[in-house]
Amino acid sequence: MKKKPRALEGLKIGNSDYPLEDTAPLSGPLQGMKICVVGAGFVGTVAAAGFARFGHQVVCVEKDQNRLSLLRSGQLPYFERDLEELVRRELASGRLVFDSDLEKSVEGKKAVFLTVGTPSSSGGRADLSALQEVISALSRKMKSGQILVLKSTVPVGTAEIIKKYFSQNGKRSEIEVINNPEFLREGNAVFDFFNPPRIVIGGNSGEAIETISHIYKMGMTKSVPIYTTDNRTAEMIKYASNVFLATKVGFVNELARLCDSVGVNALEVARAIGADPRIGHQFLEPGPGWGGSCLPKDLQEFIGLADSLGVSLFIPRAVSEANLYQFEHIYLKVKNLVENIAGARIGVLGLTFKANTSDLRQSPAIPIITKLLDNGAEVTAYDPAADDEAKSLLPDIIRVDDPYKTAEGADCMLILTEWSDFQLLDWNRISEIMKSKNIVDARNILPPELLKRYGFNYASIGQN
Ligand code: UGA
Repeated sequence: MKKKPRALEGLKIGNSDYPLEDTAPLSGPLQGMKICVVGAGFVGTVAAAGFARFGHQVVCVEKDQNRLSLLRSGQLPYFERDLEELVRRELASGRLVFDSDLEKSVEGKKAVFLTVGTPSSSGGRADLSALQEVISALSRKMKSGQILVLKSTVPVGTAEIIKKYFSQNGKRSEIEVINNPEFLREGNAVFDFFNPPRIVIGGNSGEAIETISHIYKMGMTKSVPIYTTDNRTAEMIKYASNVFLATKVGFVNELARLCDSVGVNALEVARAIGADPRIGHQFLEPGPGWGGSCLPKDLQEFIGLADSLGVSLFIPRAVSEANLYQFEHIYLKVKNLVENIAGARIGVLGLTFKANTSDLRQSPAIPIITKLLDNGAEVTAYDPAADDEAKSLLPDIIRVDDPYKTAEGADCMLILTEWSDFQLLDWNRISEIMKSKNIVDARNILPPELLKRYGFNYASIGQN
């Protein structure tokens, strides 16, 4: 019989919501553990620096030499709010080091956290090749008593496969495999690490679960519920969480479409329904569709798992299709204002999949802009943080470093990311340098009345 997750009371961890002020360990005089984190992507780097802040001794393994030397010098290869500062402080404290030698780094560590990527494969299921490579190296090196912690998002059943692999390759059945999925949001990951709504730890061994709980409890200032369960349940919790979030956003996007057609303000509806604690206020902001490196891939894996087992699931597939339609819907909003997309100049503000990140992975901006380009529009875009990947993902756009340049001679402005800086732009000035005063605010970040006063034809998502 499956064990049910149960909430445990966490201990107090740290001394503020956002403990970046100094480099003293949050754990005070308590003895930290020796930890290895494998993979210095955004999850691994946050976890490694966060554990170091708690007072643990952490080595974070990264095989990419460019990324490694940047991290060693206290710089990040991508943008994540407050992470660079946290990394610098922990490097200075001596509790955090970066290394490229996996086998050496694992030696003598109580827990080895895997945070390598598990992107979608071409068939839609999770691609576990990076994970497999690390597991094969670890099976040679890890010793009895060490705990392998899967922090990467892995398909249901992965921990069991790894346990079997360990026992078939070098008698490593004494190594406990634990799932500890992460729920960090890009752009808020440092805050989320120190203020988790919950921590999930799945495994078979009570002792190993207690050890991993201790790693967190040692640094927490607040009481945080820790849900302990078995491996499969922990794996499913992660997928269920992201699929539900995608469903919630998918619902509010459809609600906004309907509201626009009947002259009802969807934001007011969302606020009122969100007041019901069974629904909740968060993730009810209509927009250009959900994206990012997690929701799309996890939804596909969830669907793929159900298909492979012959389980009929209707909602996740509908959520995926509705999201594809949302991209089309934004395109149609522009078309509705501009009429002739062929030859039109569209000024785009925001390329990343959400604000406060440089990440373009599965950003709604990509399919929406591609559709505009395919239909003959000329697109000039500004984003304060989007990384160079934009060049390869959207080679045919004109990228500018000044938001006002996107407006020069434009037939329509299109806001695709909710960067707060866009609210501070001089929209009157923008209206004067555009050819036609059209704007599609796909994030609802601007005040409609003000825009209308400046003479804009203003289209939003759910406020028309
Ligand atoms: C998501 C989850 O929120 C995290 O809990 C999880 O740890 C992470 O995936 C992961 O699996 O690693 P993230 O991808 O950083 O985090 O982004 P979200 O904040 O969840 O936003 C996802 C997408 O939904 C974005 O495109 C965002 O713009 C969109 N969204 C979100 C909306 O359109 N409306 C909303 O109200 C909320």
